[in-house]
Amino acid sequence: MASPALISESEQWKDLKQHVSEIQTTHLRDLMNDVDRCQSMMVEHEGIFLDYSRQRVTKETMGKLFKLAEAAHLKEKIEKMYGGEKINSTENRSVLHVALRAAREKEIYSDGKNVVPEVWQVLDKIKDFSEKVRSGAWIGATGKPLKDVVSVGIGGSFLGPLFVHAALQTDAVAAEYAKGRQLRFLANVDPVDVARSIKDLDPETTLVVVVSKTFTTAETMLNARTLREWISSSLGAGAVAKHMVAVSTNLPLVKDFGIDPANAFAFWDWVGGRYSVCSAVGVLPLSLQYGFSVVEKFLEGARSIDNHFYSAPFESNIPVLVGLLSVWNVTFLGYPARAILPYSQALEKFAPHIQQLSMESNGKGVSIDGTPLPFEAGEIDFGEPGTNGQHSFYQLIHQGRVIPCDFIGAVRSQQPIYLKGEVVSNHDELMSNFFAQPDALAYGKNPDELLRDKVPDHLIPHKTFTGNRPSLSILLPSLSAYDVGQLLAIYEHRIAVQGFVWGINSFDQWGVELGKSLATQVRKQLHASRVEEKPVQGFNFSTTTLLSRFLEVRTPYDGTVLPKNVI
Ligand code: F6P
Repeated sequence: MASPALISESEQWKDLKQHVSEIQTTHLRDLMNDVDRCQSMMVEHEGIFLDYSRQRVTKETMGKLFKLAEAAHLKEKIEKMYGGEKINSTENRSVLHVALRAAREKEIYSDGKNVVPEVWQVLDKIKDFSEKVRSGAWIGATGKPLKDVVSVGIGGSFLGPLFVHAALQTDAVAAEYAKGRQLRFLANVDPVDVARSIKDLDPETTLVVVVSKTFTTAETMLNARTLREWISSSLGAGAVAKHMVAVSTNLPLVKDFGIDPANAFAFWDWVGGRYSVCSAVGVLPLSLQYGFSVVEKFLEGARSIDNHFYSAPFESNIPVLVGLLSVWNVTFLGYPARAILPYSQALEKFAPHIQQLSMESNGKGVSIDGTPLPFEAGEIDFGEPGTNGQHSFYQLIHQGRVIPCDFIGAVRSQQPIYLKGEVVSNHDELMSNFFAQPDALAYGKNPDELLRDKVPDHLIPHKTFTGNRPSLSILLPSLSAYDVGQLLAIYEHRIAVQGFVWGINSFDQWGVELGKSLATQVRKQLHASRVEEKPVQGFNFSTTTLLSRFLEVRTPYDGTVLPKNVI
């Protein structure tokens, strides 16, 4: 029998819909008493421990979710992705970020061609180039070694590398390799970000890496031109060849920009921007900062999850499990958001990366063949490291809206501290919260307990915690480059699992286009008004009023003004 056009028409979907009412009669306080259930909801892979017993599911729910995965042809879709089929059908592209971290001898095909040799060609080039820069064999225009790097890029050409950089900064091994070097990022087209990114940097000792898949992104290209001006106004136009390199799929435009194609690091249209941190997008700036050997470990970590995701049975497959649970939470239980809560400051940029990865991938309103979805897909991702988040938005999570939470922690700290005489080490203090919060959410505190605690009657409603709030816990062995690679790949695949089950295209992003094209009209208007004193026209009343007000302050375009490093 042919598959239904929409997964929501399948019997398995309808069965889960009906099952919701059964789950609504349960409370996590009771579900957590069933040790056999809890044990079945703990999974381990290479020391990564997933505990999803605090999800609002029973073993029966899980069985039904696995059947839904079967109905959605999840296994086949994963195989098609790894097999290089053009599953990004609206852009007619393969989706092969797994090839970016494949072993050298592996064969992965797109358009009948094994892409792994090209991947390794670029990796070898990065290794060679980064070693030259780091050793001082590659010098700047005035003969000085380049110790600082500014990576210019936005979205997927920024958030993944930033997350990994933040995670490695305090890893003892990586930090040792990074001594005396700085890696900065310039993403926002706001000139304030230019000023911040080059504050106290010397063009003589700085290398600029322009990272853009398309090499047409307006923000990145203006920022790249701005930093080109920063270099050439100080060192002469000839210095650009020594101080600027590029990462792109569009090598002709790199050349047009004035960067020597020999100093361009390629990637391919089968790498989505938000899935590109394992390409030169992340590997080049991170290798310049930490050395290729550290970044290779990160790639190996991601590879270990790629293999696990491809081959582990769904019942013990971490990305599949967490993906199915998100589908359950969003679409069946109706929880629209997901909180990413790493109990690790090193993972401070993880939630911002997942925001793009998840929301750009799964924030879709139609199925892969264009049919409007009769159900909600995608979720609102947000988060902060614990314990900071506890003192910020956890009030809402405990007593306001129900938001499924991902608690992420590590057994070992990157920077352990124990003060003599303290009850626990600093990491144990942090982790006390990692272990306590999920139970507080699941169990809550009821009025009887409050009465027993002698809480005055008028405060009982305010101090009641309804509990029954789902979460999952991921405990990593540590936060080495390898572990960080694993964590990244778990989330990349989780998001793909969700999209595969919802039957959407998780690999295109047409939703970002409309705003970009309207900004082009505004840009033309601003130019015409500032330079030719043309009146504002062609916009609605609101935009005309706002633009006219903005244009009242005259900021003449009379020459290059670079930030004065006043901050
Ligand atoms: O925001 C849209 C987007 O296309 C993202 O998908 C992408 O990561 C980002 O812009 C940057 O694109 P590029 O790398 O081509 O400059």
